[in-house]
Order: sequence, then C-alpha cells, then structure tokens
Amino acid sequence: MLKSCKIAIFASGLGTNALALKRAYKDFYSIDPILITDNPKSPICEEGILIPFTNKEEHEATLLRILFENKIDWLLLAGYMRILSANFIAMFSSWHNNKNQILNIHPSLLPKYKGKDAYLQAWNSKDSHTGVSVHLVTEVLDSGDILVQIPFLIRRDIDLEQFITESKKIENDLYMQVLRRIFQEEIPTIKFQEGVSFATPI
Ligand code: GRF
Repeated sequence: MLKSCKIAIFASGLGTNALALKRAYKDFYSIDPILITDNPKSPICEEGILIPFTNKEEHEATLLRILFENKIDWLLLAGYMRILSANFIAMFSSWHNNKNQILNIHPSLLPKYKGKDAYLQAWNSKDSHTGVSVHLVTEVLDSGDILVQIPFLIRRDIDLEQFITESKKIENDLYMQVLRRIFQEEIPTIKFQEGVSFATPI
C-alpha cells in the first residue's frame, strides 16, 4: 500500500463522482483530498475550493500552482467541463518522470459516444449495453488510453433520468475502485518528484 498518495479532484457539476472519490480517499488516508471546482453553482463549492474561470491560460496556471504546491501525485477529473491543454498535461507529467497521472471518468464504452451528451447518445442508440470508462487524459477529448471499462445493460423499462442515476452509481463505484487500486499499488504511481521546478516543459 502507498504510504501516502496526494490526489486532487476537479469537478464542474453535481459532484457525485467527486464526493465518492473524496470519501474513498478519506477512508484510506484520514485526510481530505484537494477538491476544486470552476463552477460557482456546483455543490462542490461547499466541500472544496472555487477557482472561477477567467481565461484558459490564467485558469490553468492557477490550477497548476495549487497542484505543484500540494505535491499532487494524481489528478482525477470528475465531470470537469474543460479540456486541459497539452501544456498543462506535460507540465503535470513532468513532476512525475513524465508519466501521465491524470484520469477521467466517462459514461460510455469509449471510443463510443465521446463528449458531453454521452448518456443521451447511448440512450437513443439501439445498443443493448453501454458502460463506463476510466481513461488517461490527453488534450483530445475522451481519447486517452483506457484503464478500465465496465459494461451494463441499457434497461428499457426505466426513463432517461433513471438511466443516468443508474449509470452514476456504477461510475461512482468504478472510480472509487480505481482509486483503491492506486492506493494498493495495483496501478503503479510515480510520486511527485522532490526538487522539480515549476517550469513550463518545452
Ligand atoms: C458524469 O456523467 C461523468 O461520467 C462525466 O461527468 C459527469 C459528472 O457527474 N465525466 P457528477 O458531477 O460526478 O455527478
């Protein structure tokens, strides 16, 4: 088990995934993770830090500064509605021997149904199953390597709202499982490298 593992979570919406991750983290390490939202209307404001969006460059610089100062090992996106730039990802990775340690959860069996209306795309399809994916984050939306996926049946005896609620439960569980696998070193971690500088990689 990792003696310590510092995580940060970014969320823009309701925050069910972010709160599930927060609970799983606290159960393990007895401290709160860093929780950030860019949305003043998100319930996450009550649980974490609000960093309102100004412009992309300034916003990412503020976020990176927080991640650096807190020596964050893993960044978990949980309904964060902004695409991180290649520079952001490279800079964060440069603190971990250039290993990508940024994850996202997406409500589909990627590469199917990328983007923000994934539930609706799956619901409106003729597919018998959809699923949930946890994947590495790149600067291309919902396109990084897939770490884990879990399929589930699209029940047709419920409505769209219930379908989303069911999917969210599966997402919450899967993301917590991934986090526990990180703590238990089943998913390897490169710790934040002491002595690295806060400089933009070329
Ligand atoms: C979920 O659909 C998740 O799969 C996607 O964004 C949404 C976040 O929901 N990445 P919540 O804010 O965690 O409830």
